[in-house]
Amino acid sequence: MTAAPPRSVRLTGWGRYAPAQVLTNADLERMVDTSDEWIVSRTGIRERRVAAAHETSASMGAVAGLRAIRTAGLEVNDIDLIVVATLTPDYWMPSTAALVKEAIGNTTAAAFDVAAACSGFVYGYATASAYITGGLARNVLVVGTELLTRFLDYSDRSTCILFGDGAGAVVLSAAEEPAPPAGIELTTDPQGAYMIWLPAGGSKAPASSDTVARGQHKIRMEGRETYRFATRTLASTGLAAAAKAGWTQRDVDLIIPHQANIRIIEAVAKGLDLPMDRFFVNVDRYGNTSAASVPIALAEAVNSGRVRPGDKLVFIAFGAGFTSGAVALEWTADPARGPLGEASVRPEDITVRQPVDWGSVDPIPPALAEILARPLPGHMDLSNVAPGEPAHAQTADSIR
Ligand code: UT7
Repeated sequence: MTAAPPRSVRLTGWGRYAPAQVLTNADLERMVDTSDEWIVSRTGIRERRVAAAHETSASMGAVAGLRAIRTAGLEVNDIDLIVVATLTPDYWMPSTAALVKEAIGNTTAAAFDVAAACSGFVYGYATASAYITGGLARNVLVVGTELLTRFLDYSDRSTCILFGDGAGAVVLSAAEEPAPPAGIELTTDPQGAYMIWLPAGGSKAPASSDTVARGQHKIRMEGRETYRFATRTLASTGLAAAAKAGWTQRDVDLIIPHQANIRIIEAVAKGLDLPMDRFFVNVDRYGNTSAASVPIALAEAVNSGRVRPGDKLVFIAFGAGFTSGAVALEWTADPARGPLGEASVRPEDITVRQPVDWGSVDPIPPALAEILARPLPGHMDLSNVAPGEPAHAQTADSIR
Protein backbone atom coordinates (compact mmCIF):
# COMPACT_ATOMS: atom_id res chain seq x y z
CA MET A 1 0.00 0.00 0.00
CA THR A 2 1.41 3.39 -0.96
CA ALA A 3 0.82 6.39 1.22
CA ALA A 4 -1.33 9.18 -0.25
CA PRO A 5 0.78 12.15 -1.32
CA PRO A 6 0.78 14.94 1.26
CA ARG A 7 -1.78 17.56 0.39
CA SER A 8 -0.97 21.20 0.38
CA VAL A 9 -3.36 24.09 0.97
CA ARG A 10 -3.95 27.05 -1.33
CA LEU A 11 -6.09 30.10 -0.89
CA THR A 12 -8.13 30.12 -4.10
CA GLY A 13 -11.10 32.40 -3.38
CA TRP A 14 -11.90 35.56 -1.44
CA GLY A 15 -14.94 37.79 -1.06
CA ARG A 16 -16.52 40.40 1.16
CA TYR A 17 -19.82 42.05 1.86
CA ALA A 18 -20.60 45.25 3.73
CA PRO A 19 -24.13 46.50 4.40
CA ALA A 20 -24.97 49.76 2.62
CA GLN A 21 -26.03 51.95 5.56
CA VAL A 22 -23.28 54.03 7.19
CA LEU A 23 -23.07 55.11 10.85
CA THR A 24 -20.74 58.12 11.09
CA ASN A 25 -18.97 59.67 14.04
CA ALA A 26 -21.33 62.64 13.63
CA ASP A 27 -24.26 60.24 14.16
CA LEU A 28 -22.63 58.94 17.35
CA GLU A 29 -22.05 62.50 18.57
CA ARG A 30 -25.85 62.81 18.66
CA MET A 31 -26.25 59.59 20.69
CA VAL A 32 -23.53 59.73 23.35
CA ASP A 33 -21.11 62.21 24.87
CA THR A 34 -18.33 61.82 22.32
CA SER A 35 -16.73 63.69 19.44
CA ASP A 36 -15.41 62.92 15.99
CA GLU A 37 -12.05 64.27 17.15
CA TRP A 38 -11.91 61.84 20.13
CA ILE A 39 -12.97 58.82 18.08
CA VAL A 40 -10.57 59.54 15.19
CA SER A 41 -7.59 60.35 17.40
CA ARG A 42 -8.10 57.37 19.79
CA THR A 43 -9.22 54.75 17.26
CA GLY A 44 -8.82 55.95 13.65
CA ILE A 45 -12.48 55.09 12.99
CA ARG A 46 -14.54 57.54 10.90
CA GLU A 47 -17.54 55.39 10.02
CA ARG A 48 -18.88 51.86 10.21
CA ARG A 49 -21.61 49.89 8.43
CA VAL A 50 -24.95 48.90 9.93
CA ALA A 51 -26.95 45.88 8.74
CA ALA A 52 -30.53 46.52 7.63
CA ALA A 53 -33.49 44.85 9.35
CA HIS A 54 -33.67 42.05 6.77
CA GLU A 55 -29.96 41.21 7.13
CA THR A 56 -28.34 38.74 9.53
CA SER A 57 -24.90 37.29 10.08
CA ALA A 58 -25.94 34.33 7.89
CA SER A 59 -27.20 36.48 5.02
CA MET A 60 -24.08 38.66 5.00
CA GLY A 61 -21.84 35.62 5.33
CA ALA A 62 -23.64 33.90 2.45
CA VAL A 63 -23.02 36.85 0.10
CA ALA A 64 -19.32 37.04 1.02
CA GLY A 65 -19.04 33.24 0.86
CA LEU A 66 -20.65 32.90 -2.58
CA ARG A 67 -18.40 35.68 -3.87
CA ALA A 68 -15.36 33.77 -2.59
CA ILE A 69 -16.57 30.57 -4.30
CA ARG A 70 -17.06 32.43 -7.60
CA THR A 71 -13.64 34.05 -7.26
CA ALA A 72 -12.15 30.57 -6.83
CA GLY A 73 -13.91 29.50 -10.05
CA LEU A 74 -15.65 26.66 -8.21
CA GLU A 75 -19.22 25.38 -8.25
CA VAL A 76 -21.14 25.70 -5.00
CA ASN A 77 -21.19 21.93 -4.55
CA ASP A 78 -17.41 21.69 -4.90
CA ILE A 79 -17.33 22.97 -1.31
CA ASP A 80 -17.25 20.03 1.11
CA LEU A 81 -16.86 21.97 4.38
CA ILE A 82 -18.20 25.34 5.53
CA VAL A 83 -16.69 26.93 8.65
CA VAL A 84 -18.29 30.12 9.93
CA ALA A 85 -16.54 32.27 12.52
CA THR A 86 -18.91 34.58 14.37
CA LEU A 87 -19.68 35.86 17.85
CA THR A 88 -23.05 37.13 16.63
CA PRO A 89 -24.74 34.00 15.25
CA ASP A 90 -28.31 34.24 13.95
CA TYR A 91 -29.32 31.72 16.65
CA TRP A 92 -27.68 29.64 19.35
CA MET A 93 -28.77 26.73 17.21
CA PRO A 94 -28.68 25.83 14.39
CA SER A 95 -25.19 26.98 13.48
CA THR A 96 -24.87 30.01 11.25
CA ALA A 97 -22.80 27.78 8.95
CA ALA A 98 -25.86 25.57 8.36
CA LEU A 99 -27.89 28.64 7.35
CA VAL A 100 -25.09 29.85 5.05
CA LYS A 101 -24.94 26.42 3.45
CA GLU A 102 -28.65 26.49 2.57
CA ALA A 103 -28.57 30.14 1.45
CA ILE A 104 -25.78 29.53 -1.08
CA GLY A 105 -27.49 26.39 -2.39
CA ASN A 106 -24.83 23.93 -1.28
CA THR A 107 -26.06 20.36 -0.79
CA THR A 108 -22.77 18.56 -0.12
CA ALA A 109 -20.81 20.25 2.67
CA ALA A 110 -20.51 19.61 6.38
CA ALA A 111 -21.00 22.91 8.20
CA PHE A 112 -20.18 24.23 11.67
CA ASP A 113 -19.29 27.42 13.53
CA VAL A 114 -16.12 28.31 15.43
CA ALA A 115 -16.16 30.61 18.44
CA ALA A 116 -12.94 32.54 18.94
CA ALA A 117 -14.34 36.10 18.83
CA CYS A 118 -12.28 38.55 16.77
CA SER A 119 -9.64 35.85 16.12
CA GLY A 120 -12.40 33.58 14.76
CA PHE A 121 -11.50 33.90 11.10
CA VAL A 122 -7.88 32.94 11.74
CA TYR A 123 -9.02 30.00 13.90
CA GLY A 124 -11.44 29.00 11.11
CA TYR A 125 -8.61 29.23 8.58
CA ALA A 126 -6.44 26.99 10.76
CA THR A 127 -9.31 24.48 11.10
CA ALA A 128 -9.90 24.43 7.34
CA SER A 129 -6.20 24.02 6.68
CA ALA A 130 -6.01 21.04 9.04
CA TYR A 131 -9.07 19.40 7.43
CA ILE A 132 -7.42 19.68 4.01
CA THR A 133 -3.97 18.46 5.01
CA GLY A 134 -5.62 15.66 6.99
CA GLY A 135 -7.48 14.52 3.87
CA LEU A 136 -10.94 15.26 5.31
CA ALA A 137 -11.89 18.02 2.86
CA ARG A 138 -10.85 19.34 -0.58
CA ASN A 139 -12.46 22.79 -0.78
CA VAL A 140 -13.37 24.62 2.42
CA LEU A 141 -15.32 27.86 2.65
CA VAL A 142 -14.21 29.89 5.67
CA VAL A 143 -16.49 32.81 6.53
CA GLY A 144 -16.10 35.54 9.14
CA THR A 145 -19.39 37.38 9.62
CA GLU A 146 -20.64 39.73 12.33
CA LEU A 147 -23.70 41.78 13.12
CA LEU A 148 -22.33 43.56 16.15
CA THR A 149 -24.54 46.64 16.05
CA ARG A 150 -27.41 44.60 17.55
CA PHE A 151 -25.28 43.70 20.58
CA LEU A 152 -24.03 47.15 21.52
CA ASP A 153 -25.14 49.41 24.32
CA TYR A 154 -25.75 52.75 22.60
CA SER A 155 -25.45 54.54 25.93
CA ASP A 156 -21.91 53.21 26.54
CA ARG A 157 -19.56 55.51 24.64
CA SER A 158 -16.54 53.31 25.29
CA THR A 159 -17.93 50.42 23.21
CA CYS A 160 -20.64 51.67 20.83
CA ILE A 161 -18.23 53.79 18.79
CA LEU A 162 -15.95 50.87 17.97
CA PHE A 163 -17.89 48.18 16.21
CA GLY A 164 -19.63 47.65 12.85
CA ASP A 165 -21.19 44.96 10.67
CA GLY A 166 -19.95 43.00 7.66
CA ALA A 167 -18.65 39.70 6.32
CA GLY A 168 -15.61 38.29 4.55
CA ALA A 169 -14.71 34.84 3.29
CA VAL A 170 -12.02 32.73 1.68
CA VAL A 171 -11.92 29.36 -0.05
CA LEU A 172 -9.03 27.06 0.79
CA SER A 173 -8.40 24.24 -1.66
CA ALA A 174 -6.28 21.10 -1.67
CA ALA A 175 -3.43 20.94 -4.17
CA GLU A 176 -1.31 17.91 -4.97
CA GLU A 177 1.76 19.99 -5.90
CA PRO A 178 3.79 21.29 -2.94
CA ALA A 179 2.69 24.70 -1.67
CA PRO A 180 5.12 27.46 -0.74
CA PRO A 181 6.08 27.49 2.96
CA ALA A 182 3.33 28.70 5.32
CA GLY A 183 2.81 28.99 9.06
CA ILE A 184 -0.03 29.19 11.56
CA GLU A 185 0.12 30.24 15.22
CA LEU A 186 -2.83 30.24 17.65
CA THR A 187 -2.86 31.27 21.31
CA THR A 188 -5.46 31.59 24.09
CA ASP A 189 -4.96 33.38 27.40
CA PRO A 190 -7.99 32.76 29.66
CA GLN A 191 -6.81 35.44 32.09
CA GLY A 192 -8.58 37.78 29.70
CA ALA A 193 -11.85 35.84 29.81
CA TYR A 194 -13.88 38.70 31.26
CA MET A 195 -12.14 41.57 29.50
CA ILE A 196 -14.49 41.44 26.50
CA TRP A 197 -17.66 39.49 27.13
CA LEU A 198 -21.37 39.22 26.65
CA PRO A 199 -22.62 38.32 30.13
CA ALA A 200 -26.06 36.78 29.56
CA GLY A 201 -27.84 34.47 27.19
CA GLY A 202 -25.63 31.43 27.84
CA SER A 203 -26.09 28.60 30.35
CA LYS A 204 -24.47 30.63 33.15
CA ALA A 205 -27.08 33.39 32.89
CA PRO A 206 -29.93 32.37 30.56
CA ALA A 207 -32.05 35.18 29.14
CA SER A 208 -34.63 36.50 31.59
CA SER A 209 -36.39 39.78 32.25
CA ASP A 210 -33.71 40.34 34.88
CA THR A 211 -30.80 39.92 32.44
CA VAL A 212 -32.54 42.23 29.98
CA ALA A 213 -33.18 44.84 32.69
CA ARG A 214 -29.52 44.73 33.69
CA GLY A 215 -28.38 45.21 30.10
CA GLN A 216 -26.48 41.93 30.19
CA HIS A 217 -27.13 41.06 26.55
CA LYS A 218 -24.77 43.77 25.32
CA ILE A 219 -21.02 43.60 24.78
CA ARG A 220 -18.87 44.78 27.70
CA MET A 221 -15.20 45.57 27.44
CA GLU A 222 -12.28 46.67 29.53
CA GLY A 223 -10.74 48.78 26.78
CA ARG A 224 -7.36 49.54 28.34
CA GLU A 225 -6.63 45.93 29.34
CA THR A 226 -7.70 44.72 25.91
CA TYR A 227 -5.49 47.33 24.28
CA ARG A 228 -2.48 46.19 26.35
CA PHE A 229 -3.07 42.56 25.48
CA ALA A 230 -3.44 43.36 21.78
CA THR A 231 -0.25 45.38 21.50
CA ARG A 232 1.68 42.70 23.46
CA THR A 233 0.36 39.71 21.55
CA LEU A 234 -0.21 40.70 17.95
CA ALA A 235 3.45 41.17 17.10
CA SER A 236 4.59 37.97 18.85
CA THR A 237 1.84 35.85 17.26
CA GLY A 238 2.58 37.27 13.81
CA LEU A 239 6.31 36.69 14.25
CA ALA A 240 5.72 33.08 15.35
CA ALA A 241 3.60 32.33 12.25
CA ALA A 242 6.18 34.00 9.99
CA ALA A 243 8.99 32.00 11.64
CA LYS A 244 7.09 28.76 10.95
CA ALA A 245 7.10 29.76 7.26
CA GLY A 246 10.85 30.37 7.52
CA TRP A 247 10.60 34.18 7.31
CA THR A 248 11.56 37.13 9.45
CA GLN A 249 9.33 40.20 9.58
CA ARG A 250 11.54 41.89 6.98
CA ASP A 251 10.49 39.23 4.43
CA VAL A 252 6.80 40.05 4.78
CA ASP A 253 5.27 42.15 1.98
CA LEU A 254 1.89 42.90 3.59
CA ILE A 255 0.40 42.35 7.03
CA ILE A 256 -3.39 42.19 7.21
CA PRO A 257 -4.16 42.91 10.86
CA HIS A 258 -7.42 42.77 12.77
CA GLN A 259 -8.90 46.23 12.30
CA ALA A 260 -9.67 47.21 15.91
CA ASN A 261 -7.82 50.47 16.38
CA ILE A 262 -5.26 52.33 14.25
CA ARG A 263 -3.15 52.95 17.37
CA ILE A 264 -2.88 49.21 17.97
CA ILE A 265 -1.75 48.68 14.36
CA GLU A 266 0.77 51.51 14.68
CA ALA A 267 2.11 50.00 17.92
CA VAL A 268 2.56 46.63 16.20
CA ALA A 269 4.38 48.32 13.30
CA LYS A 270 6.67 50.04 15.77
CA GLY A 271 7.24 46.82 17.73
CA LEU A 272 8.17 44.98 14.54
CA ASP A 273 10.21 47.96 13.27
CA LEU A 274 8.22 47.97 10.03
CA PRO A 275 6.80 50.97 8.17
CA MET A 276 3.02 51.45 8.18
CA ASP A 277 2.86 50.86 4.42
CA ARG A 278 3.44 47.15 5.14
CA PHE A 279 0.06 47.09 6.93
CA PHE A 280 -3.32 47.15 5.23
CA VAL A 281 -5.71 49.51 7.03
CA ASN A 282 -9.44 50.06 6.50
CA VAL A 283 -10.52 50.56 10.12
CA ASP A 284 -11.45 54.14 9.22
CA ARG A 285 -14.33 52.90 7.03
CA TYR A 286 -15.58 49.81 8.88
CA GLY A 287 -14.58 50.07 12.52
CA ASN A 288 -14.06 46.75 14.26
CA THR A 289 -16.04 43.97 12.53
CA SER A 290 -14.57 41.23 14.75
CA ALA A 291 -14.24 37.90 12.88
CA ALA A 292 -15.12 39.63 9.59
CA SER A 293 -12.33 42.16 9.88
CA VAL A 294 -9.35 40.22 8.47
CA PRO A 295 -11.20 38.65 5.49
CA ILE A 296 -12.84 41.99 4.56
CA ALA A 297 -9.42 43.65 4.70
CA LEU A 298 -7.86 40.81 2.68
CA ALA A 299 -10.47 41.08 -0.08
CA GLU A 300 -10.03 44.86 -0.23
CA ALA A 301 -6.25 44.58 -0.26
CA VAL A 302 -6.27 42.07 -3.12
CA ASN A 303 -9.00 43.77 -5.16
CA SER A 304 -7.30 47.16 -4.85
CA GLY A 305 -4.03 45.84 -6.29
CA ARG A 306 -2.03 45.68 -3.05
CA VAL A 307 -1.29 41.95 -3.42
CA ARG A 308 0.61 40.21 -6.23
CA PRO A 309 1.38 36.51 -6.78
CA GLY A 310 4.51 35.63 -4.81
CA ASP A 311 3.83 38.21 -2.08
CA LYS A 312 4.34 37.03 1.48
CA LEU A 313 1.28 37.87 3.60
CA VAL A 314 0.61 37.60 7.32
CA PHE A 315 -2.90 37.80 8.82
CA ILE A 316 -2.92 38.66 12.53
CA ALA A 317 -5.90 38.84 14.88
CA PHE A 318 -6.76 39.04 18.58
CA GLY A 319 -9.98 39.05 20.53
CA ALA A 320 -12.08 37.95 23.47
CA GLY A 321 -10.78 34.96 25.35
CA PHE A 322 -8.17 36.39 25.05
CA THR A 323 -7.45 34.66 21.76
CA SER A 324 -4.92 35.53 19.12
CA GLY A 325 -3.89 33.95 15.86
CA ALA A 326 -1.77 34.50 12.79
CA VAL A 327 -1.40 32.93 9.35
CA ALA A 328 1.65 33.37 7.13
CA LEU A 329 1.17 32.43 3.49
CA GLU A 330 2.53 33.16 0.06
CA TRP A 331 -0.10 34.51 -2.35
CA THR A 332 -0.59 32.28 -5.41
CA ALA A 333 -4.00 33.25 -6.85
CA ASP A 334 -4.72 35.67 -9.72
CA PRO A 335 -5.79 38.94 -8.01
CA ALA A 336 -7.85 39.92 -11.08
CA ARG A 337 -10.41 37.25 -10.19
CA GLY A 338 -11.57 39.12 -7.06
CA PRO A 339 -13.56 41.95 -8.67
CA LEU A 340 -15.20 39.42 -11.03
CA GLY A 341 -16.28 37.24 -8.11
CA GLU A 342 -17.56 40.27 -6.23
CA ALA A 343 -19.59 41.55 -9.19
CA SER A 344 -21.10 38.13 -9.87
CA VAL A 345 -23.18 37.94 -6.67
CA ARG A 346 -25.93 40.45 -5.88
CA PRO A 347 -26.96 40.56 -2.21
CA GLU A 348 -30.64 40.73 -3.19
CA ASP A 349 -30.35 37.30 -4.83
CA ILE A 350 -29.41 35.58 -1.54
CA THR A 351 -32.06 34.55 0.93
CA VAL A 352 -31.73 32.86 4.28
CA ARG A 353 -34.87 30.79 4.88
CA GLN A 354 -36.81 32.11 7.83
CA PRO A 355 -38.95 30.40 10.43
CA VAL A 356 -42.68 30.54 9.82
CA ASP A 357 -43.40 32.93 12.68
CA TRP A 358 -40.61 35.35 11.79
CA GLY A 359 -41.54 39.02 11.79
CA SER A 360 -42.72 39.27 15.37
CA VAL A 361 -39.53 40.91 16.65
CA ASP A 362 -37.96 44.13 15.39
CA PRO A 363 -34.20 43.43 15.46
CA ILE A 364 -33.10 47.06 15.18
CA PRO A 365 -31.77 48.71 18.37
CA PRO A 366 -33.98 51.77 19.05
CA ALA A 367 -30.89 54.02 18.97
CA LEU A 368 -30.27 53.02 15.33
CA ALA A 369 -33.86 53.17 14.07
CA GLU A 370 -33.45 56.66 12.65
CA ILE A 371 -30.11 55.81 11.02
CA LEU A 372 -31.56 52.78 9.26
CA ALA A 373 -34.65 54.66 8.10
CA ARG A 374 -32.72 57.29 6.17
CA PRO A 375 -31.89 57.01 2.47
CA LEU A 376 -28.81 54.98 1.68
CA PRO A 377 -25.65 56.94 0.95
CA GLY A 378 -25.40 57.51 -2.79
CA HIS A 379 -29.14 57.04 -3.32
CA MET A 380 -30.84 60.34 -2.75
CA ASP A 381 -34.61 60.35 -2.45
CA LEU A 382 -35.63 62.74 -5.22
CA SER A 383 -39.36 62.47 -4.66
CA ASN A 384 -39.64 65.85 -2.94
CA VAL A 385 -37.03 67.82 -4.90
CA ALA A 386 -38.62 71.23 -5.45
CA PRO A 387 -39.04 72.43 -9.06
CA GLY A 388 -36.58 75.16 -9.86
CA GLU A 389 -33.62 73.61 -8.04
CA PRO A 390 -30.41 73.50 -10.07
CA ALA A 391 -29.96 70.47 -12.32
CA HIS A 392 -27.16 68.97 -10.21
CA ALA A 393 -29.61 68.57 -7.31
CA GLN A 394 -31.73 66.28 -9.45
CA THR A 395 -29.14 63.55 -9.93
CA ALA A 396 -28.14 61.05 -7.32
CA ASP A 397 -24.57 61.24 -8.65
CA SER A 398 -24.17 64.77 -7.38
CA ILE A 399 -24.23 63.83 -3.72
CA ARG A 400 -20.96 61.91 -3.41
O1 UT7 B 1 -11.42 43.22 18.84
C1 UT7 B 1 -11.04 43.53 20.15
C2 UT7 B 1 -11.94 44.60 20.65
N1 UT7 B 1 -11.45 45.60 21.47
C3 UT7 B 1 -10.45 46.48 21.24
O2 UT7 B 1 -9.66 46.38 20.35
C4 UT7 B 1 -10.36 47.64 22.15
C5 UT7 B 1 -8.97 47.96 22.61
N2 UT7 B 1 -9.01 49.20 23.34
C6 UT7 B 1 -9.06 50.40 22.72
O3 UT7 B 1 -9.09 50.48 21.49
C7 UT7 B 1 -9.03 51.63 23.58
O4 UT7 B 1 -8.79 51.27 24.91
C8 UT7 B 1 -10.36 52.45 23.50
C9 UT7 B 1 -10.48 53.09 22.12
C10 UT7 B 1 -11.56 51.57 23.76
C11 UT7 B 1 -10.32 53.56 24.52
O5 UT7 B 1 -9.18 54.38 24.31
P1 UT7 B 1 -8.23 54.77 25.53
O6 UT7 B 1 -7.22 55.70 25.00
O7 UT7 B 1 -7.76 53.48 26.15
O8 UT7 B 1 -9.21 55.53 26.47
P2 UT7 B 1 -9.57 55.22 27.99
O9 UT7 B 1 -10.44 54.01 28.09
O10 UT7 B 1 -8.28 55.23 28.76
O11 UT7 B 1 -10.40 56.50 28.36
C12 UT7 B 1 -9.82 57.80 28.36
C13 UT7 B 1 -10.93 58.81 28.62
C14 UT7 B 1 -11.82 58.44 29.78
O12 UT7 B 1 -12.18 59.64 30.45
P3 UT7 B 1 -11.46 60.03 31.80
O13 UT7 B 1 -11.74 58.89 32.75
O14 UT7 B 1 -10.00 60.16 31.46
O15 UT7 B 1 -12.12 61.32 32.17
C15 UT7 B 1 -13.05 57.87 29.12
O16 UT7 B 1 -14.22 58.03 29.89
O17 UT7 B 1 -11.78 58.87 27.46
C16 UT7 B 1 -13.14 58.71 27.86
N3 UT7 B 1 -13.86 58.08 26.78
C17 UT7 B 1 -14.42 58.79 25.79
N4 UT7 B 1 -14.46 60.12 25.55
C18 UT7 B 1 -15.10 60.52 24.43
C19 UT7 B 1 -14.08 56.75 26.57
N5 UT7 B 1 -14.79 56.61 25.44
C20 UT7 B 1 -15.00 57.84 24.94
C21 UT7 B 1 -15.67 58.32 23.80
N6 UT7 B 1 -15.68 59.66 23.58
N7 UT7 B 1 -16.26 57.51 22.92
